[in-house]
Amino acid sequence: MTKKDIRILAFESSCDETSTAVIKNGREIESLIVATQIKSHQRFGGVVPEVASRHHIEVITQITKEALAEAHTSWKDIDAIAVTYGPGLVGALLIGVSAAKAASMATGLPLIGVDHIMGHIMAAQLKDEIEYPALALQVSGGHTEIVLIKDPIHFEIIGDTRDDAAGEAYDKIGRVLGVNYPAGKTIDEWAHKGQDTFHFPRAMMEDDDYDFSFSGLKSAFINTCHHADQIHEKLDKYDLAASFQASVVDVLSHKTIRAIKEYKPKTFILGGGVAANRGLRERLSKEIEQLPADIKPKVILPDLKLCGDNAAMIGAAAYNLYQAGIFSDEHLNADPSLELPYAERMLQ
Ligand code: KG4
Ligand code: ZN
Repeated sequence: MTKKDIRILAFESSCDETSTAVIKNGREIESLIVATQIKSHQRFGGVVPEVASRHHIEVITQITKEALAEAHTSWKDIDAIAVTYGPGLVGALLIGVSAAKAASMATGLPLIGVDHIMGHIMAAQLKDEIEYPALALQVSGGHTEIVLIKDPIHFEIIGDTRDDAAGEAYDKIGRVLGVNYPAGKTIDEWAHKGQDTFHFPRAMMEDDDYDFSFSGLKSAFINTCHHADQIHEKLDKYDLAASFQASVVDVLSHKTIRAIKEYKPKTFILGGGVAANRGLRERLSKEIEQLPADIKPKVILPDLKLCGDNAAMIGAAAYNLYQAGIFSDEHLNADPSLELPYAERMLQ
C-alpha cells in the first residue's frame, strides 16, 4: 500500500507579511502566497503593529483561497491546519491564529500551533533532507541564535543575542544611511562595493560562549556617522556598509564554526531573514568547506525566497509535529514572547 500524502495548509502572520501555503509531506511546496505590507510601513521607518494587524485582516481570507487554488486542492484534500502562534506582534499573530482556528473548527481538521523560529529553521527541509543532529544559525529581525536540533521536534538554544538581533542592527544602521526599512538587502549589496576600512568592534567574538551582542557595533557605527557629520566630512557609504557587514559576518561565522567543532552536527542550517545575506552565506560555506572531513556537516542554505517570513516554512515545521502527534486545540492563543524549546513544553 502506498503511503498517504499529508497536506498541510499553513498560515503565517507574525509581523509584516501575511502568508498562506499548502505543503505536501513537509518537503514540497504546492503553493505559497506572500502578501507583503512593507510599503505601508516604510514611511514610518519600521513595522507599526496596528497597521500590520489591519493589513493581515484585509488579505487573509483571500490568500487562503488562493493557496488552495494554486495547489489545485480543496479543503477535503487537506490533512491539518498549521499556524504561527509566536513569537511576534500579538495583534498580528492573533489574525493568523483566529483564521486557523476558525478553519479548523469549520472543517474538523486538526490544528497545529508552530513556533516561528522553528519554522525559519525548517525552511531547510524544503530544500534538502536534514540529517540529525543538526545545528542552525538562526538570524532574523528579532532573533540571533545558535540552535541545536536533536531531531525534527527537539530544539535547544545554545547561544542567543544579549541585545539587538542582527537584522535589527542592519535596519537601524540602514536608517542612519537613509535606506528604507528593511535595510538588510541594500546594505548587503553596498557591502559588496566597499572595503572594511572602519574596523568596527567584534563584540564577544573571543568569549567562550555562543552569545552575541550587536548594540555596541550599532553605536560605534552611529557615532562614526555623527562625528563625520559634525566635522562636515563625507564618508563612503559602501565602505561603511562593508565595514559593518564584515563585523557582523566575522562574529556570526566565528561562533558558528566553534559550535560546529564542539557539537559535530550532521547538518548545518542557516535560517531567518538575514540568511539571505550574500556575505554570510559565502563566508559560512567557505569556512565549513575547510573543516576536516570527519566533522564537516552537510550545509543547507534555504532558497532566498524562503529566508524571509513565509507560510511554507510553517507548513514544513508543522509536518514534523504532525508526525510526532503534537496538536493544538481550540485554546491555542497568540504568544508574542514564545521561546524554544518547543516540543518539551507541548509534551508536558
Ligand atoms: O525573518 P525575517 O523576515 O523577520 C523576522 O522574523 O524578524 O527577517 C527580517 C530581517 C530584517 O531585519 C531585514 O533587514 C533582514 O532580515 N534581511 C537582511 C537581508 N535580507 C533581509 N539582512 C542582511 N542581509 C540581507 N540580504
Ligand atoms: Zn521571521
